[in-house]
Amino acid sequence: MYNSFDNPELVKVLTFLQTHNTEYLSGQDLSDVLRISRVAVWKHIKKIQELGYIVESKQKLGYKLISNSDALFPWEITSELKTKVIGQQAYYFDSIDSTQNQALKMADDPVNNGTIIIAAKQTGGKGRAGREWISPKGGIWLSIILHPKFDISITTLFPIASALALSIAIEKTIKISPELKWPNDLTIKGKKIAGILVDGSLESNRIENIVLGVGINFDVDAKQIEKTLKGSPNFYGIASLNEQKNKVKSIQLVQTFLVELEKIYELVNTKQTKKIISEWTKRSSTIGKNVKLDTRDGKIKGKAIKIDDDGALIVSDNNKTNRIIAGDIIHLSK
Ligand code: BTN
Repeated sequence: MYNSFDNPELVKVLTFLQTHNTEYLSGQDLSDVLRISRVAVWKHIKKIQELGYIVESKQKLGYKLISNSDALFPWEITSELKTKVIGQQAYYFDSIDSTQNQALKMADDPVNNGTIIIAAKQTGGKGRAGREWISPKGGIWLSIILHPKFDISITTLFPIASALALSIAIEKTIKISPELKWPNDLTIKGKKIAGILVDGSLESNRIENIVLGVGINFDVDAKQIEKTLKGSPNFYGIASLNEQKNKVKSIQLVQTFLVELEKIYELVNTKQTKKIISEWTKRSSTIGKNVKLDTRDGKIKGKAIKIDDDGALIVSDNNKTNRIIAGDIIHLSK
């Protein structure tokens, strides 16, 4: 595990290499400028290489960064991140059972408000409704701890708003427009590219903390995942984001998402829900479709009309209007 604050010297060396990547830097220069010993410089460069950064080392000339690592290391996430709280502290795991479980363990501590837990792969990834979430290397698997101010009545809107934030981040970085399937799936050509899971802890009707889990099929073998999931409930196909037009670095997408999420979180916190609803509706593939779903009280079939201020889906069948707060819908036709 690495975090964004335990290795300040290593990060100093790395940042210097990154900002001076057109030249060779001698060990002595690095040591003088960064005010750390030459032995420490050497030790950090060795570690940086081990982490997957390519640093060329030439006798007499010194060191030069050739390429960055693809891993979403915590210092890469926090570096120049333009948010106030969300993502300002980060933890990274090469492999973990579930970032959601890890975040839940840390969620109570006030210092962890805004903290992000990210993993290269998950061995026990969790999806909505107790389902398995397949999380191989290449995807973006993260959880964010939040101590929100909004009241309980608005909690159902938050995951929907988060899906909107992710969609906007994808539009801005990858330049493609995913569709939003109620409540909080992101799809491209009808296949799932990302999903959102929210766990929360309540104390006498007040929200203590929320853990927002985000799974993005960024660069995964979608066919392989589809093979594994075929036939399971609510499966409607998987797509990988980076199969699409523009190859971008995952770090750009994560940072942009954190910025967009903080904006939307602020809107939810201050009850400015109208904007969220209208932006979500613009991107929705659900509204206007005939849908069906199973609820505890039986089957519902009808036309999806809109979402309410709290994110509930309004479905009408000839004589009745249903307000659906949670569940898996199946899109039928227009
Ligand atoms: C869904 O079922 O659509 C929600 C999937 C959420 C998956 C993410 S991946 C990061 C975080 N850790 C988990 O175990 N699950 C969430």
